[in-house]
Amino acid sequence: MMTETTITLELNDIQAGALRRRPTPYTGAYFLLRIDERQAGREFLRWLIPALASAADPEQQAWLAASLTFQGLKALGVPQASLDSFPLEFQQGMAGRAADLGDVGESAPEHWEQPLGSAEVHLVLAAIAPDAPRFELILGRAREIMHDLSGVALIWRQDVASLSTERDHFGFKDGIGQPAIEGSGIPGSNPHEAPLKAGEFMLGYQSETGDVAVGPQPEVLGRNGTYMVFRKLHTRVATFRQYLRERATSPAESERLAAKIVGRWPSGAPLMLAPEQDDPELGADPHRNNAFLYGDDPRGLKCPFGSHIRRMHPRDSVIVGEVRLHRMLRRGTSYGPPLAEGVLEDDGADRGIMFAFIGAHIARQFEFVQAQWVNDGKFIGAPAEKDPFIGPNDGSGQFTIPQQPIRRRLQGLPAFVVNRGGEYCFMPSLPALRWLAELNT
Ligand code: HEM
Repeated sequence: MMTETTITLELNDIQAGALRRRPTPYTGAYFLLRIDERQAGREFLRWLIPALASAADPEQQAWLAASLTFQGLKALGVPQASLDSFPLEFQQGMAGRAADLGDVGESAPEHWEQPLGSAEVHLVLAAIAPDAPRFELILGRAREIMHDLSGVALIWRQDVASLSTERDHFGFKDGIGQPAIEGSGIPGSNPHEAPLKAGEFMLGYQSETGDVAVGPQPEVLGRNGTYMVFRKLHTRVATFRQYLRERATSPAESERLAAKIVGRWPSGAPLMLAPEQDDPELGADPHRNNAFLYGDDPRGLKCPFGSHIRRMHPRDSVIVGEVRLHRMLRRGTSYGPPLAEGVLEDDGADRGIMFAFIGAHIARQFEFVQAQWVNDGKFIGAPAEKDPFIGPNDGSGQFTIPQQPIRRRLQGLPAFVVNRGGEYCFMPSLPALRWLAELNT
């Protein structure tokens, strides 16, 4: 077991997409490919590798990142012993884990957009850049090969782009809270949170439990790799606005209810630091907008226990569970056209977030948070409550807002977010991709 506390991540080997924060504004896309012939898949990787960025360059703003599903590793001809060394949840994939994730009803795999969740999704390319010219530049050669190489087929594409408001479709600034990672040199966003052990996010390093995060075998395949989970989350913006409108007597009250649901104001200012009203200057200040704990709000009077951000990262709140074992790097990006401000009718457009999680432990990070903290309220002593913002509420959901003299309870919560499908992917290191490209079975 590694015992030293200072380590340095091998950034030259790690893909930029695993560690680097996305630019703002951004334009990008997810491409899904099917590998019909293993030799063609390997050739594709050989061509692709020079186009993939490493995490070493702190100025890097645009990159292409490659990940593989379990089916994709099989299609490449990865030896059985290696396949067997992947964790079970990864082998089963997101669709196989749907019941545990609460992907039921409208979010169940049988309603997912095809080919999401099918055995056809093998290789996932994610491209992100600050603008369209640089997006075209990083795609460069990959675009040609995707179209020209027989034996590998492009089967799905989802474009993403920041909205002109630089907020999500519900009107909130997102992507603020990110953990710091020991040895990465990348600063975290909360000065009150000690950096997490590298093994929480990178395979081959010590994790918070004291054990080394063991990756798939052989070591060259696992080391400096990580997992990437993505979900296409459709957002029901009109439903959200209507819900607030019906429960508020003024626009100011509507905004306050929304802030209680999220835990932050639209600008990103956290309720913990701006409990009464939005403070855009605070929201825009990266040194202050995440510099808080919940210790001085033990009753949730400023930020409700059930709000999205307090559930997703309870920090020092007294809860059932060990918070540091369930941290996530998030790489969410928006897709689809915005719904014009003030519109309360759904226009039928598909809009939402391509949610992306990065971490070395799908089961105790993403799956735990989804199952226990999004879909269940036991950990905060409110078993009847799911996440009011993104939880699978069915029209009878509730959300408690502690306040004096008496608390307020929102009733009849519907789902504001529906899962249109997703995948569990392995994001190998650059040497691991070379190993995969050179397989000769
Ligand atoms: C359409 C779906 C979603 C929307 C619109 C959404 C929106 C937001 C917003 C506005 C914030 C506040 C900004 C920030 O603190 O960074 C936030 C934070 C966060 N969200 Fe979400 N989110 C969504 C889905 C999810 C999912 C599926 C998860 C996990 C399974 C998640 C986990 C988190 C976490 C961990 C934070 C940071 C909490 C903190 O560190 O204080 N979100 N989200």
